[in-house]
Amino acid sequence: MSYKTIIVESVGKVAVIRLHRPEALNAINSELIGELSVALRSCEAAPSIGCIVITGSEKAFAAGADIREMADKSFSDVLLGDFAATWDCIAHVRKPVIAAVAGFALGGGCELAMHCDMIVAADNARFGQPEIKLGIIPGIGGTQRLTRAIGKAKAMDLCLSGRLMDATEAERSGLVARVVPLADLMAETMRTAEAVAAMPLAALLLAKEAVNRAFESSLAEGLAFERRAFHALFATDDQKEGMAAFIDRRPPHFSRM
Ligand code: CAA
Repeated sequence: MSYKTIIVESVGKVAVIRLHRPEALNAINSELIGELSVALRSCEAAPSIGCIVITGSEKAFAAGADIREMADKSFSDVLLGDFAATWDCIAHVRKPVIAAVAGFALGGGCELAMHCDMIVAADNARFGQPEIKLGIIPGIGGTQRLTRAIGKAKAMDLCLSGRLMDATEAERSGLVARVVPLADLMAETMRTAEAVAAMPLAALLLAKEAVNRAFESSLAEGLAFERRAFHALFATDDQKEGMAAFIDRRPPHFSRM
C-alpha cells in the first residue's frame, strides 16, 4: 500500500510509521488520520510485528490538527460528521505503540502522542495544547489524557494559557517516559521497541490492557482484571518457556502465538 502523508517501514519486528507532511509541520488532516488508521490496522494484523513506533520529523512530531482543514467548518459540520472520531483507531491498537517525539507536539500532535503507550522525547521536543488561542479546546483527549498524565494543575496551566512545555518539564511531569538527545532519538526508541517486540505477544497485549484499565476503572476492578489476566497467561506456552528458560539459565524462545 502506498501512502501520501505517512511513510511506513518495518525493521525486524518493529513497524515505524513516520508522519510526513513537511509543508505543514505534519499537521494532521483527514487524509493523514485515514492513512494512519489503515497502517495501524495492517501492523495489528501482521504476525511479524510486535511493536509500532510513530514518529515525525526533527522539527515537528505534529503541530496539531490541520487548522486550514478545520477553519471553515460549522458546528453542524463537526457535529454531524463526528469530527475527530476516527482518531479512536489509535486507541484501539492492541500491540504496544511508542511515540518518538522531536520538535513540536502540539494540540492534536500532543494528543496523538498521548494515544501511544509511551513517549520517548528528544531534548528539543515541545508539548502543548494551544487550542485556546484558536478559540477552541482540545478535542481528541487533550483535556482528559493530559490531566491523567500530568495532573490537574499543570493540565489547566497548559490548556488555559496555551503555553508550551519543554522536554525536561514533560519528563518531570510524567508525560514522557524518557528524554534523549535529538541525535539519539530513533536509535534509543528502536532499541526500546525491539526489546518490547521480542517479548511474548499474549503477555504484551494483556500488560497493555491491564495498565490501561488503571485509567478506566476503580482500583478493585483493575486489580481483578489484572489477576485474571495474570492467571490466563499460565495457559500459554510462552509462560512455560519463559520460566523454564530462567531455571535452565538459557535465553527463552518465545512462540509469539
Ligand atoms: N495546521 C495547519 N498548518 C500548520 C499547522 C497546523 N496545525 N501548524 C503549522 N502549519 C503550517 C503553517 O501554516 C506553515 O505553512 P505555510 O508556510 O504554508 O504558511 C508551516 O506549517 C510552517 O509553520 P510556521 O511557519 O508557523 O512555523 P514556525 O516554526 O514559525 O512555528 C509553530 C511553528 C509554533 C508550531 C506554529 O506553526 C504553530 O503555532 N502552529 C499551530 C499550532 C496549533 O495551534 N496547534 C493546534 C491545532 S488545533 C488542534 O489540534 C485541535 C484538536 O485538538 C483537534
